[in-house]
Amino acid sequence: MKQHSFSLSATTFQKKLLKWFDTHGRKDLPWQKNKNPYRVWISEVMLQQTQVTTVIPYYERFMEKFPDVEKLAKADENVVLHFWAGLGYYHRARHLHSASKKIFFTLDNQFPDNLESLQTLPGVGRSTAAAILSLAFEKPATILDGNVKRVLSRLHAIDEWPLDKTLWEIAEKYSAKKRPADYTQAMMDLGATICIRGKPRCERCPFVKNCLAHLQGIEKDLPLKKPTKKLPVKTVTFFIFRYQNHIFLEKRPASGIWSGLFSFPEESNLLTTSEIKKICRKRFLCNPAKIQCWDSFRHTFTHFHLDILPAIIDLKESLEKEAQFWYKLEQNLNIGVPAPVKKLITQLETAS
Ligand code: ADE
Repeated sequence: MKQHSFSLSATTFQKKLLKWFDTHGRKDLPWQKNKNPYRVWISEVMLQQTQVTTVIPYYERFMEKFPDVEKLAKADENVVLHFWAGLGYYHRARHLHSASKKIFFTLDNQFPDNLESLQTLPGVGRSTAAAILSLAFEKPATILDGNVKRVLSRLHAIDEWPLDKTLWEIAEKYSAKKRPADYTQAMMDLGATICIRGKPRCERCPFVKNCLAHLQGIEKDLPLKKPTKKLPVKTVTFFIFRYQNHIFLEKRPASGIWSGLFSFPEESNLLTTSEIKKICRKRFLCNPAKIQCWDSFRHTFTHFHLDILPAIIDLKESLEKEAQFWYKLEQNLNIGVPAPVKKLITQLETAS
């Protein structure tokens, strides 16, 4: 017989979850050691769009370089971005940096300790604020990240879109007043280790007998995917100037994609060699010795695809214009560059 309503009370749900957590939860992740609000905050922001295994080495390096709010607040933005390079979604690093300045210089180095004030920090939304509050301050607060959305939409067999309003209501209802840090971590762990994407490990789940999606055999179909919009495609040509084994990089403007990172000069569209040559003369006041276009490739952002044509432009003389940064190939690249730029530099280094 199909079951239509979830059968556990909030108290029973919490008890069962915490019992499962005591045996199976993760207790030695780096941000669980020497716990403090700063360490938890950095980890939660890194984990917003990136998986635990990817985050760990970045987290360790970041913490070594910026062990507290003060070190981060007083750091140069380029250095912060360098320590973030590779994790993607760079606005997160800029938000961390400006939030640390706010905490250190404006809030007298007092870390916000309630839901409202945490959410005034750039890059901290409702769920991240609640995670910090519960994990670092042991205060009851409700999270709803990707893991928890998956768990709750399956337990309650939510098959409507949009999900968030319903899921927040359910999440609030179960949220524990006792052991708030363990409850938050347990929900994340259940989502990350048992109630996983694709084929969940229902046989190991403490709620296998209660989960409405499992009882109906629809757990693999939930949560429903956001109805997809076809992403628009933008195109760009990278002008990769090469001169005496150096390549030219410039800092991108403070707004727009990859803001604040170093990249190649660029022009819209996938240009032909003769168009590239013309632009070299006009915009860069140079006369290329050789232009070689590599195959174009795609980099996908949340809102659009970017098709990139790399044009390797060999020069006999240095650029006169706005010489911002000449990177010597095979030196240690210690500035923040976007992932596709890093990939191209590596290819240039192996080709040279
Ligand atoms: N994902 C988001 N926050 C997390 C945490 N504290 N531990 C493991 N995975 C997470």
